[in-house]
Amino acid sequence: MAATGSCAHAHWSSRLAFIMAAVGSSVGLGNFWRFPFEAGRNGGGAFVLTYLICILLMALPLLLAEFAIGRRGQQSAVGSYHQVAVLSNRSPGWRAIGWVGMLVVFFILAYYSVIAGWIIAYIPIIVTGKLTGASAEDVGQIFANLLANPWILTAGHAVFMATTTFIVARGIKGGIELAVKILMPAFSLMLLLITIASAIIGDFAAGASFLLTPDFSKITPLVVLSATGQAFFTLSLTGALMVTYGAYSTGDVNLPRAGLTVAMSDTLVAVIAGLAIFPIVFGFGLDASEGPGLLFVTLPVAFSQMGGGGLVFGLVFFLLALFAALTTSISLLEVATSWAEEKAGGQRAKVATILGLLAFLIGMLSVLGQNVWSDIHPLGALKMFEGQGILDTFNTLLGTIMLPLMGVFVAIFAGWVASKEIFSEELNFSNPRLFSIWRFLIRFVCPPALLYILYLAISGAPVAG
Ligand code: TRP
Repeated sequence: MAATGSCAHAHWSSRLAFIMAAVGSSVGLGNFWRFPFEAGRNGGGAFVLTYLICILLMALPLLLAEFAIGRRGQQSAVGSYHQVAVLSNRSPGWRAIGWVGMLVVFFILAYYSVIAGWIIAYIPIIVTGKLTGASAEDVGQIFANLLANPWILTAGHAVFMATTTFIVARGIKGGIELAVKILMPAFSLMLLLITIASAIIGDFAAGASFLLTPDFSKITPLVVLSATGQAFFTLSLTGALMVTYGAYSTGDVNLPRAGLTVAMSDTLVAVIAGLAIFPIVFGFGLDASEGPGLLFVTLPVAFSQMGGGGLVFGLVFFLLALFAALTTSISLLEVATSWAEEKAGGQRAKVATILGLLAFLIGMLSVLGQNVWSDIHPLGALKMFEGQGILDTFNTLLGTIMLPLMGVFVAIFAGWVASKEIFSEELNFSNPRLFSIWRFLIRFVCPPALLYILYLAISGAPVAG
């Protein structure tokens, strides 16, 4: 991937390669797995509208801030905050943002790989024709059986994490460009075809209206916080990841344009995925608030209705989905690897392997939470986590709470702590008014809005009774 050999300062081969890698990181399970199920759980249209507003007013400005910090810092996330703080005559202690962000990314990787493992586990199910002609009920049963089997889930998780580790350990960057340039458009096209299929077999009107018509009575603080978390998750914002990637970009990249490209392609894929899934939910009487399993009980229904062609179609779709998840997981593992490599003075292969193994072990908690430990609801006493197993708890804790919280710190650092010149030079907007808007959003919108949303959602989510 980005850095080849032992030098943490390696750069993307070209301007395009950097944008491609950033798109590759942002488009992943967050778009077609997390977005639909969070939208379904949080009332649909109201969630989607809030999510879009968050992308524009907070996530995109923060993405640009992370890019700029990385490019000026030219190091891992931790090193880049340190560098930018020192250049701004501030305490190097601000590198703590990089530290915490890196930790959050690492824990996300652990359960991300488990979900990708579910996709891998579906492949033999599709190939052996078990889905052909299956009813929505059958599909639900097939999925339930899958989750009940810790061995298959472990195998899927292991294969995915091993592949990720192998690629990061070798410092491969050529493959990512190819994957993003060819496989991701192919993936989007397949997604579009599924949307058409699901419009035919499902209830498109009900699905589209659920997703796109905001019911304002459904906007609660928790819905707003979940939408904010989703906006940050989908653009890979933790304060660490896009900093690391920004550090690999050269001075000739137009960062605002890169950020806009990433945000637009990412949003498009999420909305199409939603339009593919919800017509099936409503057409077959499934539960929109199903949770993390939503993708896995809806799309296979579409494949099952396509006759023999559904087998090939489903297989190709899941393989492409796997590539989308892989270009993301590579970025997730890259963050800690780039830091450890910097500390160890090289030895990329060794540190990547150790980190990959560690993430695999942490992910096993989420695997076993589906079966052996399915009675465990770690934070179930809190309303926000009611009924959530281990994997779901990780997802809410990290994605819904930690990401918006990290956003507060990144915004304070970029808007109030670091010197203004660093950002005006790195972002280099063609129009100075755009820089003023960016700075206004980072200083006066992100920190207060995020803190207020966090406060309302957490204080308004009493202990489950
Ligand atoms: N954006 C990725 C997705 O949508 C997930 C992801 C990658 C991520 N890197 C991240 C989420 C960093 C949070 C933080 O699949």
